[in-house]
Amino acid sequence: MALADLQALERSYLMPTYARHPVEFVRGSGSVLWDVEGNEYLDFLGGVAVVSLGHCHPALVEALTTQAGQLMHTSNLYYSEPALQLAERLSRGSLGGKVFFCNSGAEATECALKLGRRHRPRGNFVVLRGGFHGRSLGALSATPQPAKQLPFEPLVPGFTAVPRDDPQALSDVVDEQTAAVLIEPIQGEGGIHPVPVETLEAARAACDRSGALLVFDEVQCGNGRTGTLWAYQGLGVTPDVMTTAKGLGGGVPIGACITSPEYGDLFQPGDHGSTFPGGPMIAAAANAVLDVLDDRSFLDAVAEKGRRLGEGLERLGVANLEGAGLMWGFDQPEAPALTRSLLLDQRLVVNATGPDRIRLLPPLTVSAEEIDTALERLGTAIG
Ligand SMILES: Cc1ncc(COP(=O)(O)O)c(C=O)c1O
Repeated sequence: MALADLQALERSYLMPTYARHPVEFVRGSGSVLWDVEGNEYLDFLGGVAVVSLGHCHPALVEALTTQAGQLMHTSNLYYSEPALQLAERLSRGSLGGKVFFCNSGAEATECALKLGRRHRPRGNFVVLRGGFHGRSLGALSATPQPAKQLPFEPLVPGFTAVPRDDPQALSDVVDEQTAAVLIEPIQGEGGIHPVPVETLEAARAACDRSGALLVFDEVQCGNGRTGTLWAYQGLGVTPDVMTTAKGLGGGVPIGACITSPEYGDLFQPGDHGSTFPGGPMIAAAANAVLDVLDDRSFLDAVAEKGRRLGEGLERLGVANLEGAGLMWGFDQPEAPALTRSLLLDQRLVVNATGPDRIRLLPPLTVSAEEIDTALERLGTAIG
């Protein structure tokens, strides 16, 4: 079908929530995408940090097709080995407590907020400015960005936002009425801004003092992206609860909320639930992703490639470069226009998180050569 016909269908039948580029991708392999006309692109966005193993990684395809041919879904009313194996691996590889599966990052946020309320009934929440936790009404209430929040007021009450670089302000607002402090250790949708470690430490201390839960949102910065399996493992501050999604599925929808041992039994039967999560097919996919990611030499390579990308961007002289591992952002005037010309002229897929910020989130399997090619194309476009 021609692009004009797709656009006509979109105008007629899709709610107009996205500004799409005029490209239809039809095939992918590793860090490469092909459009319907056969043009080849280098993907440095990875489906917004989802395609952690690159497109159509053979182990992921194999896990999905095998499980799809065996059993796709039964419901959470019965046992299923792939989900229980996945829960054990997630717990052992992170906080050591229990896991609730869901379908997305926003749902993982909702789970963490409800856990907070179970922990401290009627308690409030503290979040950081510039953070993003999802679009459902609870997650949106935790996302202090006026443009996203204002059209949907009244929001869920009880959220206080403080600056990400003011540890004292954070410490001052956390008290015995606080259910949880929710932090994205590296703010992704905000344009890739690592939260200062002093803020993370202040949050940890404030939660220890007040008894509030410290929750880290690792939906974007987790799953190996920073060169450790979870970002917090490289930061020296351990949360009580962690959320993740995106790269855990490598391309299929999954989310998870993981606790430390102390908070594993906050929910009781009937407190929370969902139809699809923990299904055999999605859990088999996530297990296949972890088989690749949860490996010291793979994670070391992510860190090494991340340094190569960061140093290359620095050499290009981009402004306000921030990031870690394979997630980087920098300032660039008219970022959406640059993103479009990178896509259409340079065949490099990146994205603009705002009018003047570019974000790079390549697959974790990206090669050093692909990083050099992406830097060349960026250099050409930036001039
Ligand atoms: C840090 C973070 N939390 C939550 C979300 C929401 O995830 P989802 O879009 O899967 O609901 C996102 C999505 O970009 C995210 O980056």
